[in-house]
Amino acid sequence: MSVITFANTKGGAGKTTAVLLLATELAQMGHRVTVLDADPQYWMSRWYDLSQPVARLNVIPYVTQSSIDRHLQEARKKSDYVLIDLPGARSPLLAKAIGLSDHVLIPIQGCAMDAQGGAHVLELLQYLDDKLGLKVPHSVILTRVNSMVTTRALLAVKGLLAQKNVDVLNVPIIERSAFRDVFDCGGTLHTMDLGRISNLDKARENARLYAEDVMRRVARTQQAAKSRNAA
Ligand SMILES: Nc1ncnc2c1ncn2[C@@H]1O[C@H](COP(=O)(O)OP(=O)(O)OP(=O)(O)O)[C@@H](O)[C@H]1O
Ligand SMILES: [Mg+2]
Repeated sequence: MSVITFANTKGGAGKTTAVLLLATELAQMGHRVTVLDADPQYWMSRWYDLSQPVARLNVIPYVTQSSIDRHLQEARKKSDYVLIDLPGARSPLLAKAIGLSDHVLIPIQGCAMDAQGGAHVLELLQYLDDKLGLKVPHSVILTRVNSMVTTRALLAVKGLLAQKNVDVLNVPIIERSAFRDVFDCGGTLHTMDLGRISNLDKARENARLYAEDVMRRVARTQQAAKSRNAA
């Protein structure tokens, strides 16, 4: 069982899109997934209401700072993965969700100069480590990357983050209309019509590789934590 929080205090970084893609891919692979929707705009919950039931996937709306412990306790019993979608703002809920997580994913737009919202989250993670000795594994996921300049943008940002010892997922989320359309149409990339959505096959491949990358990271950090505890 893994709890993964998506955090960036700047709005529109691509958190909810990253949550939706991971949740639907994991469910497609056969894992039981619960999304705790703690964003007052409830995009995930709206998408869930719009969609036909997706096997093995549940979205819990109206998750707040006071209810998150209870919701998480419930979700743990019936999920392999719990994903937490947060609002794009600084809030006490952010620190709380981080404290409850096995891994934090920080979506940052690969093309944008302004990664400040991501930096806030990284500062908070450092603060929790320094003050409380709470080490929460975390990775940056580059989002909305232009497919034409993927390698250059990725290398530049990865280089910058590597200087600060920040892990970056190998697979970025590319800017694709399918990733927008899925919110409007409901359903998943796997139920969308190949003939009607442009580059849907590429979008599906991107989502699958991204989910596999996250699973590898989370498994690796959990293995490391187990070895530490056993030592
Ligand atoms: N990879 C992508 N390809 C195309 N559009 C994207 C992609 N990622 C995000 N978007 C679009 O960008 C906008 C913001 O994305 P999203 O809602 O995922 O960000 P967010 O970080 O959850 O925002 P908020 O802080 O408001 O919750 C949305 O309109 C979404 O459809
Ligand atoms: Mg959102």
